Amino acid sequence: GIKLAVVGGGSTYTPELIDGFARLRDVLPVAELVLIDPAADRLELVGGLARRIFARQGHPGRISWTGDLDAGVDGADAVLLQLRVGGQAARNQDETWPLECGCVGQETTGAGGLAKALRTVPVVLDIAERVRRRNPDAWIVDFTNPVGIVTRALLTAGHKAVGLCNVAIGFQRRFARLLDVAPDDIQLEHVGLNHLTWERAVRVGGEDVLPKLLAEHGDALAADLHMPRTLVERLGVVPSYYLRYYYQHDEVVRELRTKPSRAAEVAAMEKELLRMYGDPALDEKPELLGKRGGAFYSEAAVALTSSLLRDTGDVQVVNALNNGTLPFLPDDAVIEVPATVGARGAVPVPVRPLEPLYAGLVANVTAYEHLALEAALKGGRDRVFEALLAHPLIGQIAYADRLTDELLAHNREHLAWA
Ligand code: G6P
Ligand code: MN
Repeated sequence: GIKLAVVGGGSTYTPELIDGFARLRDVLPVAELVLIDPAADRLELVGGLARRIFARQGHPGRISWTGDLDAGVDGADAVLLQLRVGGQAARNQDETWPLECGCVGQETTGAGGLAKALRTVPVVLDIAERVRRRNPDAWIVDFTNPVGIVTRALLTAGHKAVGLCNVAIGFQRRFARLLDVAPDDIQLEHVGLNHLTWERAVRVGGEDVLPKLLAEHGDALAADLHMPRTLVERLGVVPSYYLRYYYQHDEVVRELRTKPSRAAEVAAMEKELLRMYGDPALDEKPELLGKRGGAFYSEAAVALTSSLLRDTGDVQVVNALNNGTLPFLPDDAVIEVPATVGARGAVPVPVRPLEPLYAGLVANVTAYEHLALEAALKGGRDRVFEALLAHPLIGQIAYADRLTDELLAHNREHLAWA
């Protein structure tokens, strides 16, 4: 049977994943699931609920939990990484100090995203190394943000890894509802980098229905994205909501300054969720979990893991090595595009030439990601400064200098070299 391990299994998100494993057991029959987390108290609450969800749905899989990574991953066919170094407290910092410089405060975009990358890459590489020592054949499925940089780190170090985000599956599900078709009947022409993507076509039975979708549901789609309908119409593509941090940067900064951080909101939700998870009568994922950004991530994870382990060769949107797919990027860049997924991993499907309007930003952010990874691997103030200077939302010496100081001041405890 299939054995899976989830690193960061004590996350309040885990019941979403468990619910997906339970509902989709025909796609991915999980015989054994190990939740791994250093937070023993959370693990107990989340693990208990996970068992009740399996029991309620008559799932025969065994669920256990441990704080011991090496023991937990032993014999696993795939290891899912969903960890957050420093928890919501560190995220709260990432979302806060950049705002004081007039820059976006966000967990994956801009200076906050760099801070997260610096904290996370060494931890993930250490985990992956330990997984490889135990199970050289195991697949690593990475949801850990920033997914583009973390996946690039894993692939550069030669790991069997694929990066995953729920933005594409979220659009697929949303478009399916608007068009009244089954999600699987929709093929997205999704292109870019993680959290920097555009839907250039929405195919149903080979026909591109994106123009029709925009004409008939432009208001609803623009409202989802908090972007003006006119922008979406002019572009003729659907940007992910992360493009708001670029296209409407200053407006977003003004907004963010007037309200509590997302980390603070999430921390309050997590407290409530953990209280609910402790109720022995609860045996399904609570509705409150739907207020988190991770909708459908379990379905994406099940589909990807199943295709890797069962060598199906179907096409899914994932994060994988560029290898010439976008010819203006280095081969070792990680891009987020539809890819054929099977026992040899994820291989991008050829992509139509990317228009300059998008290619410029993609090239720029790819260069930033390269420098961010250098900084994460080697450390040093100069490398942090260079990554920030290269970021399209920063770009000026004065900002890059000040943000470097802030980043280092707020992250010393997490950075071995600082
Ligand atoms: C989306 C993104 C994830 C991100 C999440 C944040 O799902 O694709 O990468 O982690 O939103 O959601 P949260 O509820 O933590 O704000
Ligand atoms: Mn994501």
